[in-house]
Amino acid sequence: MSLPPQFLDEIRARVPLSRVIGRKVVWDLRRSNQAKGDWWAPCPFHGEKTASFHVDDQKGFYYCFGCHAKGDALTFLREAEGLGFIEAVELLAAEAGLPMPERDPRQVQRADRRTELVEVMEQAVRWFRMQLGMGPAEAARAYLGRRGLDEAACEAFGIGFAPDQRQGLYNALRAKGIAEALIVEAGLAAKPEDGGAPFDRFRGRIIFPIRDGRGRCIAFGGRAMDPNARAKYLNSPETPLFDKGRNLYNIGPARAAVAKGRPLVVAEGYMDVIALVRAGFEGAVAPLGTAITEDQLRLMWRISPEPVIALDGDQAGLRAAMRLIDLALPMTGPGQALRFAFLPQGLDPDDLIRARGAGAMGAVLDEARPLVDLLWRRETEGRVFDSPERRAALDKALAEAVAKIPDKDTRDHYHAVLRNLKWELFGNRRRADAPAAARPARDWPRDWQGQGRNARFQPVAPAAPTRASRLSSPDMDGQQAEALVEAMVLAICATHPGLIAPVESRLERLEPQDADRAALIHDLLSGTQSQAGQRALESIMADPHVRAAPAILRPHDGDAAAGILANALDRIEARRAAREEIARAEAEIEGLADEGLTWRMAQSARARQQADHPSLADLSDLGEDSDAYRAILDAALKNEIWRKPRG
Ligand code: UTP
Ligand code: MN
Repeated sequence: MSLPPQFLDEIRARVPLSRVIGRKVVWDLRRSNQAKGDWWAPCPFHGEKTASFHVDDQKGFYYCFGCHAKGDALTFLREAEGLGFIEAVELLAAEAGLPMPERDPRQVQRADRRTELVEVMEQAVRWFRMQLGMGPAEAARAYLGRRGLDEAACEAFGIGFAPDQRQGLYNALRAKGIAEALIVEAGLAAKPEDGGAPFDRFRGRIIFPIRDGRGRCIAFGGRAMDPNARAKYLNSPETPLFDKGRNLYNIGPARAAVAKGRPLVVAEGYMDVIALVRAGFEGAVAPLGTAITEDQLRLMWRISPEPVIALDGDQAGLRAAMRLIDLALPMTGPGQALRFAFLPQGLDPDDLIRARGAGAMGAVLDEARPLVDLLWRRETEGRVFDSPERRAALDKALAEAVAKIPDKDTRDHYHAVLRNLKWELFGNRRRADAPAAARPARDWPRDWQGQGRNARFQPVAPAAPTRASRLSSPDMDGQQAEALVEAMVLAICATHPGLIAPVESRLERLEPQDADRAALIHDLLSGTQSQAGQRALESIMADPHVRAAPAILRPHDGDAAAGILANALDRIEARRAAREEIARAEAEIEGLADEGLTWRMAQSARARQQADHPSLADLSDLGEDSDAYRAILDAALKNEIWRKPRG
C-alpha cells in the first residue's frame, strides 16, 4: 500500500524519536541534554559500553558514531524491532493518535481480493494439516518421522499432506462454498485446457506452507513421497499472492530471530531451514525453488547487514555461490555484505545437523568467509599465473569485478585486500606494513613460494621408468589405486610448490593413507620439513609410476601439472564422497530404510564404481598411454632430466 508522504512526515513529527528509541536503550543522562532533545545512549545495534549512539529529536534522526547505524523512527522500528514497513507505520500512527489514511478504491479492491485468496490458502493449510492425521497419510507420517520431524515440528511449520487424489482439496474447498475461480487463482487447482473440472495441483506430497513476512500463507511447497516423481519439489505457481523471487521461506520468524541477535542464515531448501531452526539457528531462510534473486538479497539486507549464505556442499552449491558473487557485487557496500559458509562435501545443512549435530553446523557458520574471499577463489583456484600476461589477465578480471561495487570506500577496501592476496600469491615477501587484519585465518594463500619449498625435493634419476602401470592392472583394488593417485598429488605438490596455494583447502581435506603422508601434507601446507614428511616423500618418489609421470618428469610445465593435479584431486574426492554416502546409508539401515535409501545406495555404488573403475584405471588423462607421454618418456630416458641430489 502506498502512503502519502505528508502522512509519514506528520506521524514522524508528532512522536518524539527519543520516545520510540527510549523503549530500547538506556540513556546516558549526563551526556544528554533533554531540554534540547539531544540524547546519547550505548548503541542498540552493536555491543558497546560507551554512549556513541546519538538521537536528535529536532531532526528526528539517530546516528551511531560507532557502527554508523542511522535513520528515523520508522527505520528504527524496522531495524531494531524487526517490524515491516506498514507495521511500523501503523504503530507510529497509533502513537501519534492519527488514523491510517483512506486507501484508494482500486487498491482496496485488490487488497480485498488478496484477503480472499489468503483466506482460501488458510483453508487449504487446515485441510492439508488434517489429512496428515488420516489413514492414507501413514507413509507420509512415517517418512517425516524418519527425517526427524515429530508432531511438534509439523505443527510449528504447519506441515501437511496432500493425498494422491485428483480432486481432494478441490472438493473440500468447494464444499465450503469457495468459488472455483478463487481456488484456481490461488494456484491450488489447475484447470485443464480442454475446459474440464479443475484438479488438485498437489497430489501425494508432503506440504510446506510458505508464509510472507506477516505470517500469511501465500504459497505451498510440496515434496514428493515417490522418489521417481517428476519433480522432487513442486511449488505453487505465481499468483497475486506469490512472487517467488520476492519472498523467502520462513522470513517472518527469521526476522524476529535476527532482531534478537541471531544470524541470518540462507540455506537452499525447506528441509534445511526446518533443521536449522530446530537446531537453534532460528534466523534461517531459503529461496523458493529458484536461485537467489536481487529482490531476495534486498530483502535479506533489510533484516541483516551480513547474511550467511550456506549452500549445499556440492558442485551445484559452489556454482550457485559463484553466481551470487556477480549478483551481489553491484549491491554491496557498508551494511550490505555477504558471508559464505561451506558445507562439507556432499552435505546440506539438514544432513550435517542430523549426522554431526548443531555444533558442527555452528562451526561451519563460524568459518564463513567474506565475499571478497570467494571472488579471489573464483578467479584463482586451479590456475597458474606464471607469466606477465596471465597475471595481467587476473588483474583485469579482479578489477572488472570490483568496478561493479557502487560504494567507493568498499571498492578501495576490496582493492587493498586483493592487492595483498596477489602480493602473497606472486611470491613476494609480505610487506611489513600490510595490515594483519586483512588476512583471514584460514585458506588464505600463505608464503608458499618462500625459501625452502622450491628447494625441497631433488628427484633422483630413475633407473628405468617402467611402462607397466600398476594402475591399469585389473587386479588392483580401489584402495591401492587411491593410494597411488594420492601419491601423485603429493609428488606434484612437492615438485611444483607454486600449485599448492590454489588447492590448499583440498589438500587439507585429504584423508591420507598413513601418518607419514599426513605429515607430508602438513609440511607442504606450512612450508616446514618433518622427518615423517620426508619419509613419505621418499617412498612416494621411489614409486616407479610416480617417477614416470610426465608432471614429475617436466617440472617446468606448470600447466600440465596443474591439470593433472586437479584431475587427481577430483578422483580422490569422488571416492571420498562415495565412501561417506555408503557410511551414511549403512547408518540408516540400522533403523527403517528411508524412501531415498535404495536410491542412494544405488547412487553410491555407481559413484564408487566410477571412482574406482574403469576411469581410475584409465589413466590417459593423467598423461599415460598417449603418444605425447611416450615421446616424453623416450626423451627422459635419453636426456638427463633428473637432477642428482645435492651434496
Ligand atoms: P534440494 O534438492 O537440495 O532438496 O533442493 P532438499 O531441500 O535437500 O530436500 P530433501 O532434503 O531432499 O527433502 C533444494 C530446494 O530447491 C527447490 C526446493 O525449494 C528445495 O527445497 N527444488 C528442488 C525445487 O523447487 N524443485 C525440485 O525439484 C527440487
Ligand atoms: Mn536435504
